[in-house]
Amino acid sequence: MNDRVYIFDTTLRDGEQSPGCSMNFEEKIRMARQLERLQVDVIEAGFPIASEGDFESVREIAKQVRGCTIAALSRATKIDIDRAWEALQHAAKPRIHTFIATSDIHLKYKLRKSREQVLDDAVKAVRYARSLCDDVEFSCEDGSRSDIDFVCQIVEAVIASGATVVNIPDTVGYSIPDEYGKIIRTIIERVPNISKAIVSVHCHDDLGLAVANSLSGVLNGARQVECTVNGIGERAGNASLEEFAMTVRTRHEKVGLFTNVNTEEIFKSSRLLTTLTGMHVQRNKAIVGENAFSHEAGIHQDGMLKNAITYEIMTPQTVGIKHSTLVLGKHSGRHALKQRYSELGYELTQEELDAVYKLFTKIADEKKEIFDDDLIAILQDEISSMKSLYTLENLQVTSGLNVVPTAMVGLKRNNETLQDSATGDGPVDAAYRAIERITGISGQLLDYSIKSVSWGHDAIGEVFVKIAIDGYVFNGRSASTDVITGSVKAYLNAINHAASARNRRQQSAEMREESAAV
Ligand code: KIV
Ligand code: ZN
Repeated sequence: MNDRVYIFDTTLRDGEQSPGCSMNFEEKIRMARQLERLQVDVIEAGFPIASEGDFESVREIAKQVRGCTIAALSRATKIDIDRAWEALQHAAKPRIHTFIATSDIHLKYKLRKSREQVLDDAVKAVRYARSLCDDVEFSCEDGSRSDIDFVCQIVEAVIASGATVVNIPDTVGYSIPDEYGKIIRTIIERVPNISKAIVSVHCHDDLGLAVANSLSGVLNGARQVECTVNGIGERAGNASLEEFAMTVRTRHEKVGLFTNVNTEEIFKSSRLLTTLTGMHVQRNKAIVGENAFSHEAGIHQDGMLKNAITYEIMTPQTVGIKHSTLVLGKHSGRHALKQRYSELGYELTQEELDAVYKLFTKIADEKKEIFDDDLIAILQDEISSMKSLYTLENLQVTSGLNVVPTAMVGLKRNNETLQDSATGDGPVDAAYRAIERITGISGQLLDYSIKSVSWGHDAIGEVFVKIAIDGYVFNGRSASTDVITGSVKAYLNAINHAASARNRRQQSAEMREESAAV
């Protein structure tokens, strides 16, 4: 059997649909491009029937990301499959992923269908999907709690109907490794045509066993693992991509398998996802948590100094963590800045370098030492504001004891400066109200958090906000040495996302009207 395990990333589908992890159109495209650099084999880009937004982002990812297979989810119905195919048709390597529940619990209480009906739906769905697309994945939802004889029967039937991948999800995260591995082994041993398809595992983390179950699945013959960056996903999440990929890499002598993941892109992928969603990973999270490679205990530090092998099973460099070294100060020039970004893996265009350098010199004036993490935060800030409709030109706040907090805000929009002031419960609230007055967009603040990027009393603070506008949720992020400026820029970043989503909705409506008129 082949030793290669295919990585099917569902960050943009199972991950994105979970609370706190939503991303807008542009954010999904950015994440998909990073997943391509991470070299995952399949990107599940969304569930096109679920919403117009999902449909559009799957379509755009299918057009732009040519290096990976792009999958779209559909229930086992013609209408879902048609919508998935419509979104996928421009992909270089499209895959329709269709599913139906197979457990008696789901059949009785959710679908109210017999096993015969479910079998029939599955076969028809796969046959229809194969008439459109050469690559079709079929998933037995709640597979791990389904009757194994029925799972084998349905797997055999869908393969005979053209399924190229069969997935056995542990949908509710109920399995334990030995049991889940046996399910996979039984399917491989019993289904006569199993060699015509790849067997896939998809594990949820309700008992904290998603990666262990996935590993058990591949040790028992599965060759595709469905997982997400940072393990985001429904409820407790999905199997974490970075934990699975690094287990296979670090314990290769024991596991005997490999993936094509470019592990040096792991940290960047994790960080980008955090930046886009505002969903932080815990400090002690394996592989990508802040503490994952830091050694505090004296005995450990002593061992590390003598030989890193004493306490380090993998190096931070293998996952792309460059030690946050002191790199630059206010006298550093443009060339040094470009060079350092290049060492960190970011090749800047002239336009990006100019924009970042301007912000860098301003921050270097306020902050003596600039670390790699600061540079990454500055870059992400600049890239998002370069494409923005509104940028912050000036900000003046008054606040204190026994004064009404007031803010005066100046925004730039297409070379025009717009200015207004407002009062509020505090200086940040006052500035948010002034922005609402200028832009005419009013948001309800759902979440706000601030976190320091590096260290020292002058550290850059990274602010994340989540706001609801027109029934949609938008994330905003910013990095600044000044908490109030950072908070205002983060809010403006979310407002910019809302403004571009409004424009896109308007354009789609106009296009629909035009094509209806034709
Ligand atoms: O958890 C699950 O069963 C799923 C399927 C739709 C693949 O996400
Ligand atoms: Zn799932």
